[in-house]
Amino acid sequence: MAFFSSSTRDLPQSTVVPQHLAVIMDGNGRWAKKRFLPRVAGHVKGVDALRDMVRVCLDRGVRYLTVFAFSSENWRRPQDEVSLLMQLFVKALQQEVERMNRNNVRLRVVGDLSRFDPLLQSLVAEAEAKTATNTALDLTIAANYGGRWDIMQALNRLAAADPARAGTWSEADLEPYLAMNFAPEPDLFIRTGGEERISNFLLWQLAYTEFYFTPTLWPDFDAGELDKAIASYQQRERRFGRTSEQLTDTGNA
Ligand code: IPE
Ligand code: IPE
Ligand code: MG
Repeated sequence: MAFFSSSTRDLPQSTVVPQHLAVIMDGNGRWAKKRFLPRVAGHVKGVDALRDMVRVCLDRGVRYLTVFAFSSENWRRPQDEVSLLMQLFVKALQQEVERMNRNNVRLRVVGDLSRFDPLLQSLVAEAEAKTATNTALDLTIAANYGGRWDIMQALNRLAAADPARAGTWSEADLEPYLAMNFAPEPDLFIRTGGEERISNFLLWQLAYTEFYFTPTLWPDFDAGELDKAIASYQQRERRFGRTSEQLTDTGNA
């Protein structure tokens, strides 16, 4: 299996559509509250918004879409909200696989799935297997995911595989064990809902990602909103430590 190593060594162009988009889909609860609806109504709308976003990403030529659906900290929410979120997840897995296959979308779920109920775990495995040969868009759902969890599970697996070299491991040694080892690092990170924080999402992988925050609540985040985020990304100059002059001189100094 080929692994992507740290993309910060190369200079991806920011004038083009981001190859890998990472999104914290936040604001479902507030969307519902504004309408005097239960929070779960916002999560239902959130699933609709994700379905639309997959379609728009396919259309715009985004190659990887990685979304935060449930953090390792979200277990702290009221039990009824957690269980409704799990039910929604089950329903979405059952209903969306066919559409993903029609659209050539490959699904992966990253995170500590061992805490989910066995039905959900088997639906995830089934959906991943059924979409495994699709090639237009890699959709990754982070569920019971935490950036610190990811780094620790990778480190523990590296330690088990290569104990003799402990003390001299490099970043490149760790990267194959990280949950997102199949994808280049995100080019653009979007957080909806107005909060400006990472909330323990992809800590390692966001090292040099461009950040975009919007007050728009996730259920309202549509094609026009994504295009605004992409337009903002295309204004950025990604230097990865170099000077501005170096970029125009040699391209890849
Ligand atoms: C994001 O929306 C979805 C999940 C965390 C599952 P929220 O539920 O956090 O919505 P707000 O932030 O309360 O509006
Ligand atoms: C982050 O949203 C996780 C997801 C969107 C799944 P939260 O709404 O849980 O984040 P915090 O806790 O307010 O930072
Ligand atoms: Mg929130």
